[in-house]
Amino acid sequence: MEHVPVLLNEVLRAFEESRLDVFFEGTVGAGGHAKAILEAHPEIRRYLACDRDKSAIEIAKKQLQPWWEKVEWIHGPFAELENYLMHQKIDGFFIDIGVSSMQFDEGSRGFSFRSDAPLDMRMDKESSVTAEELVNELSETELARIFFEYGEEFRSRAAARTIVMARKKRPIRTTFELTAILEPVLRKGKVHFATKVFQALRIAVNDELGQLKKGLTAAIQSLAPNGIVAVISFHSLEDRIVKWMFREDERLEILTKKPIEATREEVKKNPRARSAKLRYARKII
Ligand SMILES: C[S@@+](CC[C@H](N)C(=O)[O-])C[C@H]1O[C@@H](n2cnc3c(N)ncnc32)[C@H](O)[C@@H]1O
Repeated sequence: MEHVPVLLNEVLRAFEESRLDVFFEGTVGAGGHAKAILEAHPEIRRYLACDRDKSAIEIAKKQLQPWWEKVEWIHGPFAELENYLMHQKIDGFFIDIGVSSMQFDEGSRGFSFRSDAPLDMRMDKESSVTAEELVNELSETELARIFFEYGEEFRSRAAARTIVMARKKRPIRTTFELTAILEPVLRKGKVHFATKVFQALRIAVNDELGQLKKGLTAAIQSLAPNGIVAVISFHSLEDRIVKWMFREDERLEILTKKPIEATREEVKKNPRARSAKLRYARKII
């Protein structure tokens, strides 16, 4: 499925009053937001397009072909922003965190419980830890903590216990093996019973919350005066981090008192937008 950028007009609005010279996008994905930002801001001189997924960068390269002179490609985690910038200040910073439709749809990467694949879940195929390693090697307590903290799964301990029992017989290698093990202990409701455990594993494998905290700290530090930092997040854990990091930083003026959410029309067209929340702020000092 083609990746449709979420809250696109709202993101453009965040930057509409800015004169952007250097822009950093940490999660370029398929390049949907990037294309719209570059179109709206012909004054951009340098557009740093970062993603830790090499295959996303290949797709974005085609999309952003008309701006090839301005775009610099960075394959890596956005939390390393300061290493890429090397003291250069930025006028805009944007991240749209989470999994892209391409990553979900590429069943072989193990993000989805809907296709049978090795338990991988790495956004960067060159990074080290896989979901399979976590599931087979972490202690029961650690697994339960991850499921509870990152997945907000109420049956986190039961899920961890059943995994540890199952792996004593043989290692758990695939998405379908994991869902079959979890099925008897997790509650069935409107959403698939394995949703929260899968989300928790993905967050742990990719250190998503650590990336967000480190990346935002570096972004705020690297912003030029009047620079804008904008973040789209997809679950409450991330949104809470963004909200508090903005609130606690005296260098920022918060421009979104409440997070901006997708309209009903957008959600109808693109269900992925349902949980998206956009917050942005301006650097004043
Ligand atoms: C929701 S998609 C972005 C889609 C993009 N805004 C567009 O319009 O096409 C999220 C992307 O962020 C990347 N990503 C997630 N966390 C990252 C991180 N810490 N560093 C770099 N890229 C990351 C993923 O690999 C994925 O390609």
